[in-house]
This record gives sequence, C-alpha cells and structure tokens, in this order.
Amino acid sequence: MQSSQAIQFYDYHPEPSDFFSEVIEGLSDKQKYIPPKFFYDRTGSELFEAICETKEYYPTRTEQAILQDNVKEIAHIIGRNCVLLEPGSGNCEKVRLLLDVIKPSAYVPMDISRIHLKNAAQCLSEEYPWLDVLAACVDFTKPLDLSFCPDNRKKIAFFPGSSIGNFEPSEAIQFMSHVADTVEPGGGMLIGVDLKKDRHILDAAYNDKAGITARFNLNILDRINHELNGNFDLDNFEHYAFYNELKGRVEMHLRSMESQQVTVDNTQINLDKNETIHTENSYKYTIDEFQSMAEKAGFEPVYVWTDPQNLFSVHYFEVPAS
Ligand code: AVI
Repeated sequence: MQSSQAIQFYDYHPEPSDFFSEVIEGLSDKQKYIPPKFFYDRTGSELFEAICETKEYYPTRTEQAILQDNVKEIAHIIGRNCVLLEPGSGNCEKVRLLLDVIKPSAYVPMDISRIHLKNAAQCLSEEYPWLDVLAACVDFTKPLDLSFCPDNRKKIAFFPGSSIGNFEPSEAIQFMSHVADTVEPGGGMLIGVDLKKDRHILDAAYNDKAGITARFNLNILDRINHELNGNFDLDNFEHYAFYNELKGRVEMHLRSMESQQVTVDNTQINLDKNETIHTENSYKYTIDEFQSMAEKAGFEPVYVWTDPQNLFSVHYFEVPAS
C-alpha cells in the first residue's frame, strides 16, 4: 500500500488492454467492431462530457435530478456509516451528490486509470476531510478482492450513468454478480439504468444536432491513427446511430462512405461502401427487465426511483442477508 497525505491507495496492477490486438481482432470480424472502452482517451473523455451537456442527451441530467430529489430517502434506506464503493469512479463527480447526506464512513473509488484515480481521489478527499478515501486501482469488470475494506460495515456499490447499458446483458449479469459477492449479504447496489422509451427521444440523444456524438464516435479512428499508426481518413466515414427495437439497444456505428482500404500498422483492412464498424451498444431496460437481471445476479429489488417523464431509473438492490 502506498499512502499519500489523505488517501489510502491500493494498487492491484490491473493488466492494461492491448489496444492493438483488440482493434485488429475487431476489424477482422465479419461485422467489424471496435470495443467502446477505447473511446475514452483525453479527447474522447472531453467529448463525452460535452455530450452530457447537449440538449438531446437526457441521461446525465435526469439521473442527477433523480439523485438530488431523492437523496434523503436514499440515505434513509441505505442507512449511515456504510462503505460506499464506486466501480469506474472516473472524476468522482456524481458521488458528490450523495456524500453529505449519506455520510458513509469510507468511500472506495475504483478505476483502471491509475493517475486519474489518484488525482480524483485526492481532490475529493480534500473537499470531504471527514471521509476516509480508500482508492483501488483495479479492473472492476473482474472479481474484486477488497480485503482492505472495513468488514464490519454495510457495503454499497454505486454504479451511476447507465454504464451498465454498455455491457451485453449476459456481461451485465456477470458484473452484477461480482458486485453482489463484493458487497456480501446485507450489502447493496445503487445503480442508474436508462429506460426504454419512444425511439425518437433515443435517436435524438445519440444524434445531437451539434454533432458532438459524431465527433466522439469518429475520434476512435483518430486515436487509432495516432496510437497504432493507422491511416483512416475520417472524411470517408460517417457517424450512424439508431435504436434497434428488437434488441432494445441504441447501436453506434461508423459507416464507410466508399469502398476503401485502410492500414493499421502493417495490417490491411478492406471496407465496402456502406459497410459499418460497430462501436457501441447502449442497452435500455424496463424496470422489470432490469430487476430480473439483478435477481439473476443475486440481488433483491428494494426500491426504484424515476423522473416524472420516466426517462431514467435509479435502482437500489440488496443481497439478502443469509
Ligand atoms: C457511457 N455511456 C453510458 C454512454 C451511453 O449513453 O451509452 C456513452 C455514450 N455514447 C454515446 N453517447 C453517450
């Protein structure tokens, strides 16, 4: 363990993704794809923040309003002095909506990005001097060993932002069962989940008029050009996003506007005109659908909050005490 002034830092040395092999593997598939985790370089993260500010992209502000409006009730249900875990904590922004009311005894931000995690945890700790901050550098999609956590306290995992929607449903269940194992019987999970709704609202949310989502999507090709010696001509691709009703998900693709050859380092990739590279799925769930997935992972539904227009949901689940 390394400790800085106020935070404790536990480094599990998560294995970094192999950007090159995963990109080549995806671009060699029949339906070409690039895993969405590669969106988030510096520019991609900034563009994602800008998406959250667009008029069309309702999830961020709607979830924030749900948390703000109901934080007292959430605190009442969860109880004080819990250990609050946040897988994929990023800049630790959303948890600030909860801390003063929930008053956890410790906060455990978890992220794969070591430097970002350290800085975000340190900043938060300075702002909340009464809070123990135990940061864990981990790949949170893998089973978690949090033996450093105080074990006499109720553990609650916080997973906002509908990030769960970017997992395939089977992966989402697997992830939630790791979370259930981590929080143990009696522990809980507070999770933001985007709801199924009129497709026009969804189509607009992923096709904002200012074109920020398009830039976010195309940036992944720019990243491949810079980091993997690629030669994608961004002008030859267009952003393509739509709600796939049958699968209950928004799909994002990059469509090749002409038949073309691209290289990534020494690997040649052929694209037909109109062929797409699939870059992201964002699953939307009804409350019942999501509750039954969480049940498969070992959780029991306790409460769910929504906004007046039923755009977004925040669920609270617990693992039944044995
Ligand atoms: C991070 N994630 C929950 C976003 C979503 O809505 O699936 C990513 C995103 N992609 C395009 N716009 C936002």
